[in-house]
Amino acid sequence: MSKIVLEVEGLRTSFFTRKGIVKAVDGVSFFVREKETLGIVGESGCGKTVTGMSIMRLLPEPGGKIVGGRITLNGTSLLELSKREMRNIRGCMVSMILQDPMTSLNPVYTIGDQIAESVRMHQNLADEKMITNEVVSSLRLLQIPSPETLLKNYPFQLSGGMRQRVVGAIAMCCKPSLLIADEPTTALDATIQAQYIALFKDIQAKTDVAIIFITHDFGVIADMCHRVAVMYAGKIVESASTSEIFKKPQHPYTRALINSVPRLDRKDDRLYSIEGQPPSLMHLPPGCRFCERCSDSLEICSKEEPPEKNIGNNHTVSCWRVQ
Ligand SMILES: Nc1ncnc2c1ncn2[C@@H]1O[C@H](COP(=O)(O)OP(=O)(O)OP(=O)(O)O)[C@@H](O)[C@H]1O
Ligand SMILES: [Mg+2]
Repeated sequence: MSKIVLEVEGLRTSFFTRKGIVKAVDGVSFFVREKETLGIVGESGCGKTVTGMSIMRLLPEPGGKIVGGRITLNGTSLLELSKREMRNIRGCMVSMILQDPMTSLNPVYTIGDQIAESVRMHQNLADEKMITNEVVSSLRLLQIPSPETLLKNYPFQLSGGMRQRVVGAIAMCCKPSLLIADEPTTALDATIQAQYIALFKDIQAKTDVAIIFITHDFGVIADMCHRVAVMYAGKIVESASTSEIFKKPQHPYTRALINSVPRLDRKDDRLYSIEGQPPSLMHLPPGCRFCERCSDSLEICSKEEPPEKNIGNNHTVSCWRVQ
């Protein structure tokens, strides 16, 4: 089995706001191996982006804080590093493609200059020709047509899809061992979505990079991920290999998410959606966080949090119904 690139253990990240403490990530554990794609899936606001930003140590300051847990990347404990040490790791060992690609591009510099800047920062290349070669090869990796021409362009001259690829090229230009891809929320149309997924598979085949793919869509998980962690209100409620989770989903929330994927073979084309809202992360209920919306709850569910159970085959689930 290939080696573990990233291990996250009991990660807790909170936002300290004037109104109170938002427990955005509340005791999350998972790992990712080389050449593997882990999907993190869940509804809006469940803590997916905050998990990624915590690994990058790029939480908004002041306010966002990692309050517990361990993050180990290639044997290095990230939470023990100084800000300077972390800056060196970012981009060279781990990079993240943000949900909104425009925020990662600077409108006043050309694409070529922006990628070159990143190459210069993380690789010790003095020769400008070598830097340009690296820039062009990262644009090629992201299947950007005529990279030599494109690197002279400014971000506003590119389409949204092309900008997304450029952000990907910046993320990959220093050959990180872990890539965190936060799926753009603005709904990509089906063709662009399929191309985007094919692109990540191709990058992984060429580089062996471990990928964390963040999405709210189980359809994307099926196409793209080897394993999956289902997040709900700051916690992972179920995790397993992708094939196992589709065959034997255990948590009612996982089942509901799988049911909400549109399917061509289904006769009625109404989209199933989960009724109700997740609990406020500022006022969490004492029991299971999904209890309010669960149609299958027991008395204990509203009183005590269900412990995580390993039901074999590396399949874990936190639900009182599962014995
Ligand atoms: N700067 C902040 N200050 C206070 N709370 C925040 C801040 N950033 C995020 N949060 C809260 O943390 C929780 C998790 O947010 P996060 O962005 O990780 O959700 P997400 O799963 O990525 O959702 P989406 O699918 O919409 O991107 C949310 O409840 C959000 O309101
Ligand atoms: Mg997000």
